[in-house]
Amino acid sequence: MTNTVADILIEVLPYIKKFSTKIVVIKYGGHAMVDEGLKQAFADDITLLKYIGVNPVVVHGGGPQINVVLDAMGIGSTFIRGMRYTDDATMDVVEMVLGGKVNKDIVARINREDGKAVGLTGKDGGLITAEKLKIYHQSDKNKPPEIIDPGMVGNVTQVNPAILHTLIDQGFIPVIAPVGIGKNGETYNINADVVASKIASALDAERLILVTDVDGVLDDNQKLISSITDGQIAEQIADGRIKGGMIPKVECALEALRNGVKKSHIINGKTPHAVLLELFTNSGIGTQVFVD
Ligand SMILES: Nc1ncnc2c1ncn2[C@@H]1O[C@H](COP(=O)(O)OP(=O)(O)OP(=O)(O)O)[C@@H](O)[C@H]1O
Ligand SMILES: [Mg+2]
Repeated sequence: MTNTVADILIEVLPYIKKFSTKIVVIKYGGHAMVDEGLKQAFADDITLLKYIGVNPVVVHGGGPQINVVLDAMGIGSTFIRGMRYTDDATMDVVEMVLGGKVNKDIVARINREDGKAVGLTGKDGGLITAEKLKIYHQSDKNKPPEIIDPGMVGNVTQVNPAILHTLIDQGFIPVIAPVGIGKNGETYNINADVVASKIASALDAERLILVTDVDGVLDDNQKLISSITDGQIAEQIADGRIKGGMIPKVECALEALRNGVKKSHIINGKTPHAVLLELFTNSGIGTQVFVD
């Protein structure tokens, strides 16, 4: 072992002590699943965390992967405030792609490194109960907001983390696809940021890390904003600087903090080993979200 390796190991010792036995919820954005190398680097990070005593829980998205299949089937994609309009045909594709291909790909990559990953959707073990989400949209300040029907997009009503505790206690890494079940057995497509935030809260997680395809929240000059407060978030959503898929991300990061999660970060999954860099360096990377 060279001195450099020893130095690095000693440098990360305080972080290992800090996170050991703690739960860290990592949302793996579909937009960050760019190439084989990055995908395997992510799986390696998750496995390494487990082997040093941290309990990672992965929640994944899959927007681009769903688009590919919808396009191939001649079904279009429409987004409202970063949420996908989900009719019945779209819902079938979402469930197949997220719960099947994307979930099992992540599980297999972690298990290639003996990480003991187990894939599940919100339907398994009664993990996520949902109801239809209502989106309020005000296009004209002088008119009352209109209610937009997003189809089978779900709002999480309940998280039952029992199955996650069982898996974690037995040394497994849960990998969760963001699909929920309604009280009449209907299937809901839920934004993965929302699911990650609710699960982080239900598990009393130490960290919520949202891994995406940009460095974090960016300003008008595309420069990274390394910390942002709830007040600044509200302002930037209102004036359109934060838009699309970044809206649920910042809102969910805040909600997790309000529910007792210690820190929420948005980081760039296109940086190899972004999760390790975030957890094991003093300043971290990306944007840290704060409640003022
Ligand atoms: N102010 C902003 N700063 C940074 N990104 C922003 C901002 N406003 C909007 N965005 C957009 O948010 C996107 C990230 O959200 P997006 O939903 O596309 O990805 P994801 O959540 O990582 O993936 P998935 O939805 O598949 O899980 C960025 O790629 C960027 O285009
Ligand atoms: Mg998204």
